[in-house]
Amino acid sequence: MSISKPRRDTRIVSSVSLLPLVCLIAALVVVLTTADGCEIAPSRSMFQKRQFGITKGPMLLRVYQERAALMWETETEGPSRLYYWRNREPERYVESTPEKVQYETKKDGKGTVTKTAFIHKVWLEDLEAGQVYKYRVIGPEAQSKVYKFHTTPADTDEARFIVYGDSRTNPGTHRKLVELMMNKKVDFVVNVGDLVSRGSRYEQWGPQFFEPLKGLAETVPVYIAKGNHDRGNGYFEKLLILEGEKNNYGFDYGPVHYFCVDNVSGDLRSEELLKLIWADAQSSKARWKFVSYHIPSINFGGHWSKWGYPDALRTLSEAGVDFVLTGHSHQYERFRPIAPAPGTDGSFVTYVTSGGGGAGLSNVEATCYHASAKKIHHFCLFHIKGNKLTMDTIDIDGKIIDHLEITKTDGRLNKQYLWTAVPMEEIRRYQELKRKR
Ligand SMILES: [Fe+2]
Repeated sequence: MSISKPRRDTRIVSSVSLLPLVCLIAALVVVLTTADGCEIAPSRSMFQKRQFGITKGPMLLRVYQERAALMWETETEGPSRLYYWRNREPERYVESTPEKVQYETKKDGKGTVTKTAFIHKVWLEDLEAGQVYKYRVIGPEAQSKVYKFHTTPADTDEARFIVYGDSRTNPGTHRKLVELMMNKKVDFVVNVGDLVSRGSRYEQWGPQFFEPLKGLAETVPVYIAKGNHDRGNGYFEKLLILEGEKNNYGFDYGPVHYFCVDNVSGDLRSEELLKLIWADAQSSKARWKFVSYHIPSINFGGHWSKWGYPDALRTLSEAGVDFVLTGHSHQYERFRPIAPAPGTDGSFVTYVTSGGGGAGLSNVEATCYHASAKKIHHFCLFHIKGNKLTMDTIDIDGKIIDHLEITKTDGRLNKQYLWTAVPMEEIRRYQELKRKR
């Protein structure tokens, strides 16, 4: 039997080939050590490939013309730095002061274990409108990939966005919808609430909300109207609301003004919230005005919700709102436009219940008041260009299940659409009657 010995030249080649790797690791150690303690920024190319140590996010919470806000979570204590830049522009960074969260979670089905997480939220300031920015997170013992987002353009008559809701409980379904959304190249996403089964259980926020949104929420802001399932221990606010901001907030994108409202927390009564919606819509000159809150004001099937009665329909019309998108009932329903109350100069409001983002579905039967009603997982894709609005509702197989096309000229919707409108009192009476059964 003969034993072959390694050839000398092979060993030399191996040693030589390891040398650059050793140098690279040494350089990496030096760079990481200095990054937390001085002004030297690590070179971009070294950090683009791998993400580690970040347990939630990064996720864009707000993007405006000159500011943007992000969040992420680490398991390691200490500040992170978020580096951001445009092409050919020097890197800048903002340092986070994380908030510590301790929570109990089950360990292998037996007993509980206490875990700790650190939530980071930062604002990026002095951005330029309509520009692409790159960013990445570094430290402590964590780094993200390099991601891109674009700031809101200063002057555009176009907006593409998605609205959906009730994405809780079945992460696989939520993920399938997000994968479809990723191909739609939208400017922002609105989730109308119920992000997790039980908001007080911190361990649900990762698998049910942050993980299904990977690949989308790093590059496109996700605005949220809080749902009733999101309440508990203040985790919704800790994760998603920025310091100094409230759960009710508005933003603009080109021809769209959007107002997200929390109608589940109970710190404001419905009359006060409706006044807030009215004041916000009145102060905006945008061509298209949208409002989202979780519990619908008009909804047949599911919970048969009628939040804000008896004033909601009238107030929203008098405020000049065009679309109200809600959730809570796990179905899709688009109502025919609801005409203003007689003698008032309000808008014709289109109400949509979009509660099919993942949670188990509820029954809905089409009535003469519906333009469309379906028990189906879905999301709504809007494309607005100037005076034309298109909405495609897309199901979990990627099929368009509802299509709406309307125009608005000099503040009035096209006549063909208005001919389909239903009187406000009639639809209210119908809901009262059916709900009592
Ligand atoms: Fe709900």
